[in-house]
Amino acid sequence: MSLPPHWKEVGGEGRVHRVMESTLTARDRVGVQDFVLLENYTSEAAFIENLRRRFGEKLIYTYIGSVLVSVNPYKDLEIYSKAHMERYRGVSFYEISPHIYAVSDNTYRAMRTERRDQCILISGESGAGKTEASKKILQYYATTCPVTDHMSTIRDRLLQSNPVLEAFGNAKTLRNDNSSRFGKYMDVQFDFRGAPIGGHILNYLLEKSRVVHQNHGERNFHIFYQLLEGGEQDQLSKLGLERNAQKYHYLVKGCCPRVSSINDKSDWKTVRKALTVIGFHEEEVEDLLNIIASVLHLGNTQFGEGEDGETQITTEPQLTYLSKVRTSNMNSTSSHRLTHSLILHFKGPLSFEQAVAARDALAKAVYGRAFTWLVAKINQSLAFKWIVFYLQDEVYNSSKGSSSVIGLLDIYGFEVFQHNSFEQFCINYCNEKLQQLFIKLTLKSEQEEYEAEGITWEPVKYFDNKIICDLVEEKHKGFISILDEECLRPGEPSDISFLEKLEDTLGGHAHFVTHKLANGKTRKAVGREEFRLIHYAGEVNYTVNGELANQSVNSRTVICQSDNQILSQCFHREEVTTQKRPETAATQFKNSLAKLIEILMSKEPSYVRCIKPNDAKQSGRFDEALVRHQVKYLGLMENLRVRRAGFAYRRRYEAFLQRYKSLCPGTWPNWQGRLADGVATLVQHLGYKPEEYKLGKTKIFIRFPKTLFTTEDALEARRPALALTLQTSWRGYRERAKYHLLVIQSAWRGMKSRRKARRRRHAAEIIRKFIKGFIYRHYERCPENEYFLDHQRFSFLMTLVRNPPKSVLDKSWPVPPPSLTEASEHLCRLCMQNMMRAYCRRIQPEWKKQMEQKVVASQIFQDQKDSYPQSVPKLFVASRLDSEEFNLKVIQTLGNDKVKYGVAVTKYDRRGYKARPRQLLLTSSFAVLVAEAKLKQRIDYAALRSISVSSLTDGFMVLHVPSEDNKQKSDVVLQCDHVIEVVTKLATMADKKNKVNISQDSIKFAVARGKEGVIDFTSGSELKVAKGKKGHLLVTAPQLNPR
Ligand SMILES: Nc1ncnc2c1ncn2[C@@H]1O[C@H](COP(=O)(O)OP(=O)(O)OP(=O)(O)O)[C@@H](O)[C@H]1O
Ligand SMILES: [Mg+2]
Repeated sequence: MSLPPHWKEVGGEGRVHRVMESTLTARDRVGVQDFVLLENYTSEAAFIENLRRRFGEKLIYTYIGSVLVSVNPYKDLEIYSKAHMERYRGVSFYEISPHIYAVSDNTYRAMRTERRDQCILISGESGAGKTEASKKILQYYATTCPVTDHMSTIRDRLLQSNPVLEAFGNAKTLRNDNSSRFGKYMDVQFDFRGAPIGGHILNYLLEKSRVVHQNHGERNFHIFYQLLEGGEQDQLSKLGLERNAQKYHYLVKGCCPRVSSINDKSDWKTVRKALTVIGFHEEEVEDLLNIIASVLHLGNTQFGEGEDGETQITTEPQLTYLSKVRTSNMNSTSSHRLTHSLILHFKGPLSFEQAVAARDALAKAVYGRAFTWLVAKINQSLAFKWIVFYLQDEVYNSSKGSSSVIGLLDIYGFEVFQHNSFEQFCINYCNEKLQQLFIKLTLKSEQEEYEAEGITWEPVKYFDNKIICDLVEEKHKGFISILDEECLRPGEPSDISFLEKLEDTLGGHAHFVTHKLANGKTRKAVGREEFRLIHYAGEVNYTVNGELANQSVNSRTVICQSDNQILSQCFHREEVTTQKRPETAATQFKNSLAKLIEILMSKEPSYVRCIKPNDAKQSGRFDEALVRHQVKYLGLMENLRVRRAGFAYRRRYEAFLQRYKSLCPGTWPNWQGRLADGVATLVQHLGYKPEEYKLGKTKIFIRFPKTLFTTEDALEARRPALALTLQTSWRGYRERAKYHLLVIQSAWRGMKSRRKARRRRHAAEIIRKFIKGFIYRHYERCPENEYFLDHQRFSFLMTLVRNPPKSVLDKSWPVPPPSLTEASEHLCRLCMQNMMRAYCRRIQPEWKKQMEQKVVASQIFQDQKDSYPQSVPKLFVASRLDSEEFNLKVIQTLGNDKVKYGVAVTKYDRRGYKARPRQLLLTSSFAVLVAEAKLKQRIDYAALRSISVSSLTDGFMVLHVPSEDNKQKSDVVLQCDHVIEVVTKLATMADKKNKVNISQDSIKFAVARGKEGVIDFTSGSELKVAKGKKGHLLVTAPQLNPR
């Protein structure tokens, strides 16, 4: 297939194709956005040229298949806003320009849909942007994932763990002002809804040597400077520190404690806040700062010769402070001794040089372990706590089984210096392992995809770096085993004997060379104290100088007795007492790496490869040589070769058909059959040759990018025609739509008017009938009035339905029309009966009794006695006297006759009208008057003739009892506050309801032997009882309710 003229620049070394993607802007179309589409994919120059061109247009991201290559722009490109995040959310990888968010989103979606743990491996050399990339990914998840209230705490902690770890683990180096001096793997755990619910961090190989030494132009870890710059004055005084970093030997080795790009003061504030968010207690922060301070004091500790020629500490302030770390009890003698044991008794009496080395080793060990403690502490706070969810069963149950993880690995890339030490060895070994993992997994996923699509897998030639990994880690024969053996061997191990051992065991290995083993040109390039490993990414000479010393340094000190909580947790007593030799640093690293690889193997990987465009940290500068070096060490060409091994491009049928269907009359405008057939029709029409493509189950695989570009060009060429057709159809459609609109509008208006006229006619008809009916309303039912009468009836019934009487007391009733008078009466009666029945059904037995008594009271007193209306709302009670108020003796005397009601009354003597307090007790067959323990008078109900009360508001009553009866005393004059209640009860019990006399002016009563007494009642302002002139009792009753 030939290329159109505007692709002229394509082909050859350093030339790149352009691929058009519908959603890309013109700017995004620079170069190829996926290296697999590079025509000359084996050319490193073409690869770098593509990177350069895109970088020139500020396009820092490019794919190699699903691997993201990122070039550090060294300036804010404003491509990380929330709007950008939204653009990448849920969008397929290839539909939009490459971005770190696309990788983040794809990984997240893969985790959600496939329910498989994922990991993103970020590598690159120092300053290439690994840490920034991992922060961008974390921010993407923090912003776009669903979050509930308490999950937001975890989200904040995940984000805030960065400034803390960076303060303690990052430092300014020549290559990067914020260089991570440790490797970091972070797991973010998501629940079944895709919300972040926890995290875990693994740290690798902190560069502890930086604590005691920094190269020129570099600094110690940020935290030291942050504390000195930002810490409050009294905090510094407490720690025995001065604000000036120049005063501390450990901080000025690189001669640049201040850096213009770093604001230690504000960073300190950020770190303090972050520590709080993560959940550090004040005491823990204090302990941590004590450790930081103690490292600084250690650095300032000087040594001199003592009286007996032994080495001793000569700097008193440091001695004093350091003892604080050991114990809070500031006893200077003991602290002196302890500090001695802390430093000098590291391994018995030491020479001056040994003391300095021991001091530095101690500082490194303390800092290193404090860092490990810090990571563990952060992990505790990020740990997903099931208990939090315990009460939310739904979340608990579902999360338990279905939480998934995305791991982020931010680890150094290959490092090659003039002199490469043990640290570079570990880093490069780590990269060797990661490369092996990458090749394995990439090939595996390629193979799986081919199998799934039913396409024959063609074996790919690639360099398997297992041979180098084995060289380093193989048991008994590998580099690390030899190193261990050399350290364990009795006698002093030396670097030279170690090198000889290496030569003996590894000599002849294709990837291992030493000065002795090499010949000719190579021999010159390898020093006598060096060995060379031929890594997959290139050759590196490592120096063995100090290798063994590095291994054997251990920190068995009495520091494990410290009162500082962190130190005592970091240094265990067993370390001091145990006879077991600790593992060498190399073995420790090998083991932790093996664990990491195991973790990564269990997850689906994605890759971000970071590249640094120049060494000057400058934006817009692309140093080709430097980039070429990184492309080589990152193994990007190998990546591309593996990815391009079979087919350069693959796409799902529906996406392919959707994009190119306009190029074939058979598929345009829509293909109705099977997608695979549609694609087959399309590619046949486009003239694809059989070797150029394969059709899988769901995807088309295109072998060469050229084929795809030609198709793209054809689409580009078709676009104007397509646009014209679309325009014409659109105009036609618009005109037709306009016309249709007019027709619909007029039809609609006509219909509306007709409907209105119909309604108006109907309304006039009704009004007419109504008026006529009103005129004839008094006539018998006839056609003229029947509508009106029906309407009247209907509205009366509807009024009744909507507003029936609310209760038995509600006497309201709508006025019925004359034709319904009788029916209305029936209805009213029925309604009342219903309400009454319902009311009676609801009445409780006590209330019923109350009502019965009230009915008796009303029969006796209604309209008869003035105090009656006031008595109505007051409830009658069972008794006015409690059983405790009854005299026991009286009760005994009454025997079986139980007192049913008792009330306090005043008895007036019938002669002198002397008032005496009494209790009136009613039983079922008699009443008694009681004065304290004495039964004064018994009145049998059978003998009670009648009861007299006045018609006024007083409480007088006279119980008339026959005087002929010797056993009985005669009439009784009583006064009581509850006269209505008492008389009602007495009349009921004695069955004398008809014997209650209500007198207007006076009541006569019998005095002994035929004599009569009189009570005269008058109305007045207040109650008065007095003896009148005629010997009558004069009662003035208050006038409450004059009749
Ligand atoms: N995407 C980016 N946009 C803008 N600036 C960036 C970006 N990535 C990196 N940088 C700049 O580069 C500097 C170094 O980046 P970073 O700290 O991520 O490097 P690194 O690869 O982690 O290095 P090291 O291995 O030393 O830790 C950052 O401080 C920042 O100034
Ligand atoms: Mg970093």
